[in-house]
Amino acid sequence: MAAEDRWLEGLRVLVTGAAGGLGRALVAEADLRGARVAATGRRPNIDTADLPEAAIRVPADLRNPDECRRLVHDAAEQLGGLDIVVNNAAALVCKPFTELELDDLETVWEVNLRAPVLIMQESFPYLCKGTSPAIVNVVSTAGVNGGVAPVSAYGMTKAGLIVVTKAVAREYGAHGIRVFSLSPPAIESEMRRVLPADLSVSTDRVKGMSALGRPAPPPEEIARFTLLTASGVGGLVTGTMIDLTATVY
Ligand SMILES: NC(=O)c1ccc[n+]([C@@H]2O[C@H](COP(=O)([O-])OP(=O)(O)OC[C@H]3O[C@@H](n4cnc5c(N)ncnc54)[C@H](OP(=O)(O)O)[C@@H]3O)[C@@H](O)[C@H]2O)c1
Repeated sequence: MAAEDRWLEGLRVLVTGAAGGLGRALVAEADLRGARVAATGRRPNIDTADLPEAAIRVPADLRNPDECRRLVHDAAEQLGGLDIVVNNAAALVCKPFTELELDDLETVWEVNLRAPVLIMQESFPYLCKGTSPAIVNVVSTAGVNGGVAPVSAYGMTKAGLIVVTKAVAREYGAHGIRVFSLSPPAIESEMRRVLPADLSVSTDRVKGMSALGRPAPPPEEIARFTLLTASGVGGLVTGTMIDLTATVY
């Protein structure tokens, strides 16, 4: 690959949810573009998932606060620092509001909001010493409009993450760290299996709703945009939510 295509050369990238649909693409793209990557996941298959050989595996259950903190230090130690952190992992609960149980609420709060908050806090000292440092929080339009399926619990945690991103961007900006959230388009992943069948990422449905008349993009395209924006190229992007859904909410 030509040197100019390795636009993450030498940067150190941490990706959570690395064994998932978007996570795998983020790790592969970061590796392809020259970064050194720490891939985190909860399932034992984080060790064997189809990830680039060079990616460092850091298993952690994000429901455990100590593991959230520990994974940042493990990753930074093994990579020799941190430049880009992508909070990509998430849990989806699809249930009518009145049927939500305490464990449902705790799961989404712990994985989707508390974990990114703890990871941002722990990453701060490393990012302060990083090159063009940035944090990306992967969110959802459910955090803006409540979602089309019964995903209120998931949506409220994504809404919280969108807001805390804005607040943290102000505080970290003075240290040269950019923080933005990114709402990806529909991805055919494990997560969507709990959604009603009529919301599947079928090409025709998405294409029909897209303002651009395009089918859902592959995770690789989303990963490339995400990391390019997180790299120095996205110089002025901070605080904002980037919405890649092309109006397919
Ligand atoms: N799929 C979509 O259509 C869609 C739409 C809008 C936004 N998003 C957002 O995009 C991001 C990626 O989603 P995806 O589609 O790639 O979903 P996915 O394939 O289900 O991946 C989610 C990842 O989160 C990890 N995770 C869940 N609970 C965890 C825990 N307790 N500890 C550690 N890791 C945990 C999972 O780990 P394991 O592999 O160990 O289970 C999995 O790797 C999420 O933030 C999601 O909210 C997705």
